[in-house]
Amino acid sequence: MNRYPLLQHAPMRWSVTLLIGFLVLNYGSLIAQETWDVPEERASRLSPFEFTDSIHRQGAIHYSVNCASCHGTPGQGNFERLDPLPADPATAGFQENTDGEMYYKVSEGRGLMPSFKNVLSAEEIWEVVGYLRTFNPDYVQEVRPTAELSAYGGTVELLMAYLADEQKIQVVALGTRNGETQPIEAAEVALRVKRYFGDMMLDETRFTNQQGMVEFDAPQDLPGDENGNLGLSAQLVNQEMFGVSQADTTLAAGKSFIPISLTRERAMWNVVQKAPIWLLLAYSLSVLIAWGIIFYILFQLKKIFDIGAELESK
Ligand code: HEC
Repeated sequence: MNRYPLLQHAPMRWSVTLLIGFLVLNYGSLIAQETWDVPEERASRLSPFEFTDSIHRQGAIHYSVNCASCHGTPGQGNFERLDPLPADPATAGFQENTDGEMYYKVSEGRGLMPSFKNVLSAEEIWEVVGYLRTFNPDYVQEVRPTAELSAYGGTVELLMAYLADEQKIQVVALGTRNGETQPIEAAEVALRVKRYFGDMMLDETRFTNQQGMVEFDAPQDLPGDENGNLGLSAQLVNQEMFGVSQADTTLAAGKSFIPISLTRERAMWNVVQKAPIWLLLAYSLSVLIAWGIIFYILFQLKKIFDIGAELESK
């Protein structure tokens, strides 16, 4: 009869206290949800692209592919019930983000919000930001002020150097137009390392300063070749504006890495150390035994045939 003695004997007050405790804890975790601080320099960044209709269309595509699964259709409030909640992009709270803050949050991610910096290019993230702004009737875009926004009618050259003391890789963008060479400001540069299978993006893309210069943190522990050389390639992201300009250099910015021959020490099945003797013995023995049994069976079969032949001939 008394199947749940604990439940029956526990004083009612207990369960009520427990319930209240849970509620308080849950509520507490709601309150404790920290604000998402964005570094000042990033928060104030502006898009170099004017959010035109074609940008909105591109952004809508990226959004439906990458974001709608969690954030739902903007304005419908049909986002996934995650913790913390992914907001509906059409809400005031979401739209309070500056363009730079939105860009940063999408690029870096936090918790269940994935980082998109290796999924979407900088241009694509700006397109999504532009698209999300279409749900804010009060939004007026402030475009990054540069003289360079029209297609650059000249050639652009990139130079790359490794500042060993500061562990930085420096890229300078120089444009030559009408025989005059000038640094190019606010051009977005991506730095990639050459790997066996395709190139790997190092760091996020960065924008050149007034001197046409950007600095990337040099990788600390990427293996290079025997002398620590890394094949690096810097590119301007906005090729429509500047044309395809790229600098490929080999810089001594990696760790030296000397590949060890897999068969250097002794045997095929061991990587760099000698195989232990007991392993060799056990292996040889088991091979011998297996073949021994096979030969024994063949031998017995032959005997059966011999006996059969003998009987037949009688
Ligand atoms: C796997 C689910 C998921 C996907 C996919 C996702 N998000 Fe989020 N997003 C979240 C969650 C959860 C949060 C809340 C994160 C937090 O506050 O810590 C969030 C927060 C954000 C914020 C900050 C909102 C604010 O109020 O400050 C922005 C902006 C954002 N997401 C944009 C995007 C965009 C754009 C995409 C697609 C490129 C995207 N998210 C894809 C789950 C997702």
